[in-house]
Amino acid sequence: MATLLITGGAGFIGSNLVQHVLDRTADRVVVVDKLTYAGTLLNLERALSDPSLVFVQADIADERAMSAVFADHRPAAVVNLAAETHVDRSIDSPRPFIDTNIVGTFVLLEAARAFAARLGAPEGAAFRFLHVSTDEVYGTLGADGLFSEETPYAPNSPYAASKAAADHLVRAYGHTYQLPVLITNCSNNYGPFQFPEKLIPLFVTNAIDDVPVPLYGDGQNVRDWLHVVDHCRAVDLLIDQGTNGDVYNIGGGNEIANVDLTHQILDTLGKPRSLIRPVADRPGHDRRYCLDTAKLRSVGWSPQVAFAAGLRDTLEWYRANEWWWRPIKEQDSDFKSYYQSQYGRQ
Ligand code: NAD
Ligand code: TYD
Repeated sequence: MATLLITGGAGFIGSNLVQHVLDRTADRVVVVDKLTYAGTLLNLERALSDPSLVFVQADIADERAMSAVFADHRPAAVVNLAAETHVDRSIDSPRPFIDTNIVGTFVLLEAARAFAARLGAPEGAAFRFLHVSTDEVYGTLGADGLFSEETPYAPNSPYAASKAAADHLVRAYGHTYQLPVLITNCSNNYGPFQFPEKLIPLFVTNAIDDVPVPLYGDGQNVRDWLHVVDHCRAVDLLIDQGTNGDVYNIGGGNEIANVDLTHQILDTLGKPRSLIRPVADRPGHDRRYCLDTAKLRSVGWSPQVAFAAGLRDTLEWYRANEWWWRPIKEQDSDFKSYYQSQYGRQ
């Protein structure tokens, strides 16, 4: 029985990945999560009843805590998802993005390097450090073209720059120390348990309450959406079959402009399009992302969730799970003051 260490496992993608692994393997899963505003044990409620899950509340930037996690749990592989993830927050307050995404990844790499150096064969040969990153490191696209794994990095937001810096560290640890690393660059995810600051859960939960939805700029920015379960399947596959040192793009191929997505959300919920409130654009707002995923497809992955069905199910999930999002929106003072500052941009 192997042990998989998942950092950020109490967040959106992390909690979906934990459940995916517990449902499909006999692996033991150790979650390391600081439980920031974005992480909650409510996301792991079902998983926590599984004896194969161990939860450790810790900061990935805490050297002693990370050494202890490796020594105590001896993981066969690590998936690093822990991060500050919201672009708008990174514009207003970049510091936590540096601390977690850059310094935290560095500390985790050091702990992994020290641990891997002491492993004998065959554990040493099988050890993997999979770092989850974003397509935002590549910058922005015009109307045409796709990002490939060879596209030069050109991050535009403090969030994207912090993820790019982390990716470079991971790559360097592979190259210099032969740490068996993989990097995945994924497009925008959607699905259950996404914190209601991101476009889809924010707009859905506002619309349910007949509250206006703030659409940035001209609404023509394009994102390439992927259901979170398809992301989990890709990570799961690459831990087993990815080539050490390689980079893999993960994307759904579902390009849609924000305004069209907003119409789809409002129409599906039976809410009027007049709920759309055009607001000032995000500073430095990337125009379009879309990924070439041929490399990952050649390993045997393809997305299984059609966007229309995935979006419908996701809207239904938020409709059925107000217990999860309403307290976050109503009681979390961090969230409230953050949103007051956002709406202040109008
Ligand atoms: P999220 O914000 O929902 O969750 C992040 C989790 O990390 C939270 O549980 C939080 O408590 C934890 N965390 C934050 N700082 C920490 C620290 N210092 N130590 C330990 N834990 C910490 O984010 P998400 O959307 O699930 O994204 C997960 C990862 O996937 C991130 O690395 C992100 O950059 C990447 N990613 C996300 C998307 C997306 O669309 N959501 C797309 C591509 C890549
Ligand atoms: P977001 O969910 O923040 O993801 P990312 O910035 O990482 O792509 O935003 C998705 C798109 O939606 C992006 O183009 C910005 C836009 N957006 C809005 O128009 N209004 C909003 O309130 C938010 C949060 C995002």
